[in-house]
Amino acid sequence: MRIGIIGAGFIGRTVAQLVIAAGHEAMLSNSRGPQTLSSVLSGIRGSQVGTVEEAAQFGEVVLVAIPLEHYRSLPARLLEGKTVLDANNYYPARDGHIDALDHFETTTSRLLAEQLPHSSVVKVFNAILAQDLLQDGRAKAAPDRRALPVAADDRVAKALVIQLLDEIGFDAVDAGGLDESWRFERAKPAYCIALDKTGLKAALAAAERQVEMPEGSWRH
Ligand SMILES: NC(=O)c1ccc[n+]([C@@H]2O[C@H](COP(=O)([O-])OP(=O)(O)OC[C@H]3O[C@@H](n4cnc5c(N)ncnc54)[C@H](OP(=O)(O)O)[C@@H]3O)[C@@H](O)[C@H]2O)c1
Repeated sequence: MRIGIIGAGFIGRTVAQLVIAAGHEAMLSNSRGPQTLSSVLSGIRGSQVGTVEEAAQFGEVVLVAIPLEHYRSLPARLLEGKTVLDANNYYPARDGHIDALDHFETTTSRLLAEQLPHSSVVKVFNAILAQDLLQDGRAKAAPDRRALPVAADDRVAKALVIQLLDEIGFDAVDAGGLDESWRFERAKPAYCIALDKTGLKAALAAAERQVEMPEGSWRH
């Protein structure tokens, strides 16, 4: 599979490494252009770099891993018909306040899906630290295999992402549609905590819509 990646920071680079190791192709991009990504070419064997538009066109699947505040800059037309993986989280101190999120009226993924109305958005990779993503992958059926939550409205896109997670060493728990993805957003019990499938299901069920765990009880 060809995977375009918009955002070449911690999470974008980590996913590139993992999917290339699993036999896929990856192209990383950022807002400043491929001339600023020579460290990707030297550091991630087999990775390609391009502009945001080139990465969007390159990918059959495209990962968005940028600070949430920039989600409106994405090239919606080039992402039409594609599966778009959404790793983004809302940090008001970084992203500025977004009223609908502050008032628990929507989810980060729903905002992205509204921006990309003709793409199939899948929430994934947001609830694990990049460094853990790199080191926590395990062979199928390993007793300590970690599970990651996935949410999407499109069942086919969701199944494809669950398969991709399996290939890179993770189980998945289906957390429902995008409107349920708040269950593993920032400061919920499933956020950036290593859990197996059973533990993750329990953490997702324990989440409360308007309750945020105190800073310091989760890692970021
Ligand atoms: N770090 C983690 O462990 C982790 C884990 C899960 C989820 N996340 C979430 O994933 C997202 C990215 O996090 P990160 O830690 O990878 O961030 P990061 O290290 O700061 O990297 C962000 C990347 O996005 C690029 N970028 C910024 N604005 C852009 C735009 N408008 N178009 C294209 N590229 C743009 C940046 O490059 P330029 O500035 O040069 O464009 C940079 O390559 C955030 O929403 C974060 O909350 C992070």
